[in-house]
Amino acid sequence: MDAPERILVTSALPYANGPIHLGHLAGAYLPADIYVRFQKLKKRDIVFICGSDEHGVPITILAEKRGVTPKAIVDEFHKRNKKAFEAFGIQFDNYSRTSLPAHHKTSQAFFLKLHQKGLLTEKTIEQFYCEHCQRFLADRYVEGTCPHCKKSGARGDQCEACGKWIDQTTLIEPSCAICGTQPVLSKTSHWFLKLGDFQDQIKAWLDTKITWKSNVLNFCRGWLSEGLRDRAVTRDLSWGVPVPLKGYENKVLYVWFDAPIGYISSTVEWAQNIGQPDRWKDYWQKDDTRLIHFIGKDNIVFHAIVWPAILMGNGEYILPSEIPANEFLNLEGEKLSTSKNYAVWLEDYLEKFPPDPLRYTLAVNAPEAKDADFNWTDFQSRNNNELADILGNFLNRSLTFIKKHFQGKVPEKGTFDALDTQMRNKIHETRVTIAGCLEAFEVRKAIFALIDLARFANKYFNDKEPWLTVKSNRETCATTLHLCAQVSYALAILMEPFLPFSAETLWRMLNLDSDIHQQNWDDAGQIELPVGHQLGKLEILFPKIEDEVIEPEIQRLKQIRQRLVVKSEGEKDSKTKAEEPMSEQNANVITYDDFSKVNLRVAKIIEAERVPKADKLLKIQVDLGAEKRQIVAGIAQQYDPADLIDKLVVVVTNLQPVKLRGVESNGMLLAAAKENGELSVVTLDRAIEPGTTVR
Ligand code: MF3
Ligand code: ZN
Repeated sequence: MDAPERILVTSALPYANGPIHLGHLAGAYLPADIYVRFQKLKKRDIVFICGSDEHGVPITILAEKRGVTPKAIVDEFHKRNKKAFEAFGIQFDNYSRTSLPAHHKTSQAFFLKLHQKGLLTEKTIEQFYCEHCQRFLADRYVEGTCPHCKKSGARGDQCEACGKWIDQTTLIEPSCAICGTQPVLSKTSHWFLKLGDFQDQIKAWLDTKITWKSNVLNFCRGWLSEGLRDRAVTRDLSWGVPVPLKGYENKVLYVWFDAPIGYISSTVEWAQNIGQPDRWKDYWQKDDTRLIHFIGKDNIVFHAIVWPAILMGNGEYILPSEIPANEFLNLEGEKLSTSKNYAVWLEDYLEKFPPDPLRYTLAVNAPEAKDADFNWTDFQSRNNNELADILGNFLNRSLTFIKKHFQGKVPEKGTFDALDTQMRNKIHETRVTIAGCLEAFEVRKAIFALIDLARFANKYFNDKEPWLTVKSNRETCATTLHLCAQVSYALAILMEPFLPFSAETLWRMLNLDSDIHQQNWDDAGQIELPVGHQLGKLEILFPKIEDEVIEPEIQRLKQIRQRLVVKSEGEKDSKTKAEEPMSEQNANVITYDDFSKVNLRVAKIIEAERVPKADKLLKIQVDLGAEKRQIVAGIAQQYDPADLIDKLVVVVTNLQPVKLRGVESNGMLLAAAKENGELSVVTLDRAIEPGTTVR
């Protein structure tokens, strides 16, 4: 492919509702960073754009559960994630946020333009409405059983278990994610993108993308063959970009409408920051720009179908040139789950280890063609057996040898024999191989080529036996070490995209005061360290990682897994949620978030009677302030129905309703339970209004 005039690279804007974990890094961030660093060394005109995705239901739900504002949530995670990316060496040229006023304006302009061009259509639809919370339940505000795979814990937009997108009205046993109430269907108006009208245009465009990865193309073919349908681009929410139309003041744009526009807003911000406010236009409006979106596979439909349709509809922007979507990264053989805390968080990692060994391990295990696995044992052995024993070892033994026998100065170069020539050619080959792989987004192959060069160099060192020639033939020895110094120099440049921190250290060890990150890729193997150049202070590039440090990490994940197994065995006949959160240190400890999922309220008992033919059960009617409910409680042996009237008790209000002896029970009374079965109902010691929250 011809080199483009300029390249714009984006990584999916992460939701600012939680920290970054290894799955994120392996999918959308590390491969992009490696690619961008490489292109920068190639001296291409390239900009790397990202930012926080600060709208959407996951953010508002978390805010409600924590009892804080959505703004507080996004402020926290924007800051933390930006910092963690930096510390990991992900070098965005700009990291923006979609809550900024400038982004709101750009998104509204996009919406209005589509509206004016007749590409949006208004529809009145039925949506779930929670009478308790008094609002429409957008996306994840409704939960229920997936209509496709029949697993519980599906959300109103997607089922995590089977990955299918869901029309919320088809959820089985829907409930409000906040209060647990069963919602009712009610009418509401929304604007839809006429995606159906783009079917032919999208298909024709995708047909030209013959070099795209098959996971992306297959996915799109699936969507196209089902026929593209209109998609709602507004929501009944108060947090987001306000819909800029009369009568829609209380609605916002769907997060997946505004978020990709965030790529543009972030580029505009970048242009302003570098003092060339119009520069962003080159990257978004000139046909000789290559626009590359790095994403995880869960984002394919938005980037390869919906977003291009929005851009086509607008008409003033270029379309994506490449969408290198990655598959998922598993953890110790199990699916990663943030809600179960089954993840490795970047911030935690960075407190214990340097960035490069993780960059290396994730690149080697990049989930390019299929799901891949990260495990700590592999991480340790990659560091110890590859980075330390191959790459680190070659550099260390060569540079130490030069220090010891040549006063730390690059030795004279004599005539090359066959081995020397092979070694020199290997540098060139490797440079060309890595470049080819990275141009094709094949990070794994690229990093294998890098380590292969170090392996080859070690063998060269062994075969040349400089520890013998230093005495028997000093000229040959000098030539060997001269070449080893050149290999080290080339390695520093070739390493930079993958291992930027170690490349920097190596650069210092070579006593070079220029900036390693500003070197020229093609210098590797072509430009030489001059004879007599004095080396700097040597350091151990890749210290070994001991078992004691790795073991706790393995144990932590193992504990969570074991807890999950026990849980899923006990789950077979009960209907408890698959999504039970796990805590960090100890699987028995729950977070405040977990606790806050249980909705506890004060209730007043207004009626109680025995359930016929069930000697333990009482059928009780309670007043919950806003509503009345029927609860069946197993307390008939301790309590006389009449004695319960007017008692203030505590009720769990968001339990799934069940039938006990054919009688519906919609909640649970709290009671102390002794081993012998004796029960004592929890009551309140002063007159509190029914419906009051218990915490
Ligand atoms: N926040 C989304 C996610 O984490 C990704 C948004 S990508 C963008 O899945 F294109 F919308 F910005
Ligand atoms: Zn509700």
